[in-house]
Amino acid sequence: MDTIEAMKKRNSVRRYTDKKIEGDVLTALQAEVDKCNDESGLNIRLVTDDPDTFNSLFARAMFSGTRNFFVLAGKDDADLDEKAGFYGERLVIKAQQLGLNTCWAAMFSGKKFSSKLDKGERIAIVVSVGYGETQGEPHKNKPMESLYKVDGDMPDWFRSGMEAAMLAPTAMNRQRFLFTLSGNTVKAECNNGRYSKIDLGIVKYHFEIGAGADNFRWA
Ligand SMILES: Cc1cc2nc3c(=O)[nH]c(=O)nc-3n(C[C@H](O)[C@H](O)[C@H](O)COP(=O)(O)O)c2cc1C
Repeated sequence: MDTIEAMKKRNSVRRYTDKKIEGDVLTALQAEVDKCNDESGLNIRLVTDDPDTFNSLFARAMFSGTRNFFVLAGKDDADLDEKAGFYGERLVIKAQQLGLNTCWAAMFSGKKFSSKLDKGERIAIVVSVGYGETQGEPHKNKPMESLYKVDGDMPDWFRSGMEAAMLAPTAMNRQRFLFTLSGNTVKAECNNGRYSKIDLGIVKYHFEIGAGADNFRWA
């Protein structure tokens, strides 16, 4: 399954079966975590077989069977949330390619993993992962025209980038992002309250895959 196909198939899944992540799937997922950490300097951890974190009464209202998740952490600087969004979504798409399902989960602080952080680090967010009971449902989309600004004709690569961005998960499915093209420079903005920067990283990952990183540069 290529990356775009995985983006098309991905939906948030909050209910998981008890099938464990193990063997080659676990090895491949952990390898991608290691690559993301190397490239980004983040301190992302894949936690498996932990039935407690998503087991509060509050959590069970929405999630069930969650025993595995990514804890997206890193140095607490201005870039942390955007990087967590970007690399977290890369892991989400890798998980989809490996036959797993995921859901970004801002409602869980992952606080109990704080002791594993290095000095000066913070947990940005947690993402659940596992074998879903279902494959979820595609989200509703805003009209594409409300999500970009282009002077003149829209290049094909920009449209492909927008199509990929619209497949991205955003907090509460708000899709409060805007891509602006001038020359071959793309500016991405997002205005979704405290989730703005995480959403921004997620949609930039999707846009970059859809548009092709060689076709443009980020503002
Ligand atoms: C930053 C972020 C935080 C989220 N937090 C939660 C959450 O706490 N609980 C939850 O059930 N879903 C959460 N979601 C999932 C969104 O509701 C979901 O991505 C959105 O409705 C779009 O649906 P889709 O992922 O199926 O495309 C979050 C998504 C993002 C991107």
